[in-house]
Formats: sequence, C-alpha cells, structure tokens
Amino acid sequence: MDEKLKTFYELTERRRSVREFLEKDIEGEKVDRLLKILQRAQSAANCQPWHFIVVRSEDRESIKHVFTREGFKKAPLAIVACAEPSKAWVRRADGVNYAWVDVSIAVTEMISAATAEGLGTCWVAAIDPVEVKRALEIPDGVDVVGIIVVGYPIEELKKVEKERKPLREIIHHGRW
Ligand SMILES: Cc1cc2nc3c(=O)[nH]c(=O)nc-3n(C[C@H](O)[C@H](O)[C@H](O)COP(=O)(O)O)c2cc1C
Repeated sequence: MDEKLKTFYELTERRRSVREFLEKDIEGEKVDRLLKILQRAQSAANCQPWHFIVVRSEDRESIKHVFTREGFKKAPLAIVACAEPSKAWVRRADGVNYAWVDVSIAVTEMISAATAEGLGTCWVAAIDPVEVKRALEIPDGVDVVGIIVVGYPIEELKKVEKERKPLREIIHHGRW
C-alpha cells in the first residue's frame, strides 16, 4: 500500500475516545489548524449552518459543571459544536433539515485532524443543552450538538481493536 494511504488508515485506527487528559495546554498553532478544518468542512449546498465555541483552559470554569466525568472537566480545550437549523439546507422531499449532519461532518474531520496532531478527543453528547446555552450565552434558534473535549491523552494513542458490528450485519449489497 502507498505510504500516504497507509498513514491515513493508521490514523483512523489510532482514533478512539479519550476521557483522561494530561494537564498540558495545546499549542496555539495546533488549535488554529483544528479551527481551519472546521471552517473547510463540506456541508449540504455549502450552507455552513454551524458555530463553534472554543473554550480554553482559562475559560473552562464556565462549563466545567456540565460534565459529569472528572476527566472531561480537566480537558484543556472544549469545542462546543452548535447547529443553526434556519441556515441549513432542507431536503424538499421530506423536509429533513441537514444542520446536525453538517455539524457532525465538520466535527468528525476536526477529530481526525486532532488525532493526526497527537491529541485525544471525546465527543460528549450527554450534557444538558439548556444549561450549556445559558452558561455560554448561546442565542435562541441555535442547538448544542455536543461538546468535543480535546487534550493530550494520558496514554499514547495506538491501534486498538474495537467492538464493532460485523460487516455482514451493517453492509447491504445491491438491496437491503
Ligand atoms: C455523537 C456521539 C456522542 C457521544 N457522547 C458521549 C458522551 O456523552 N460521553 C462519553 O463518554 N462518550 C461519548 N461518545 C463516545 C462514544 O461512546 C464512542 O465513540 C463509542 O463508544 C466508540 O468508541 P471509540 O470512540 O473509542 O471508538 C459519543 C460519541 C458520539 C459519536
């Protein structure tokens, strides 16, 4: 396999959810690169119906209380991913709004970039969105999709075998 391809596949194998972080801030240029990835992500009809609130360690007091896990409270960076459905593409056939899909794509790409940077991440959906909106002054009409905690992992990222459904259960060839 070509080296660049190998690097890509190894990266996807290294990613896992990290829930304990070192008490070490992330270099500013790394954070900037991650934010550019969020900006460049694809979205339906290029609507970009998203906002991302960057909460660095010096500001984390404002949202610490929304996490139940100690590890998440200590992450040096939290990115609050928000969707603005009124700005999103809507599928005419059934009225489905793509805002959350678009936000999820941007976040997924950012998580891959963070892995390449040697950082660990965890997507945290189990928060109270009403409380997050209050704490961070997020306006009406904007949804909190999740908070992505980011930091240097306590344990090095390496390939791990994951519990996943077998391919035959999830892939359908030709028809269902
Ligand atoms: C949309 C989404 C929400 C998640 N919410 C949480 C969460 O609230 N708390 C948590 O510890 N992990 C959360 N996770 C991480 C998943 O539990 C994890 O991705 C899954 O168990 C597979 O493990 P892996 O990420 O290590 O491959 C979330 C992941 C996704 C994609």
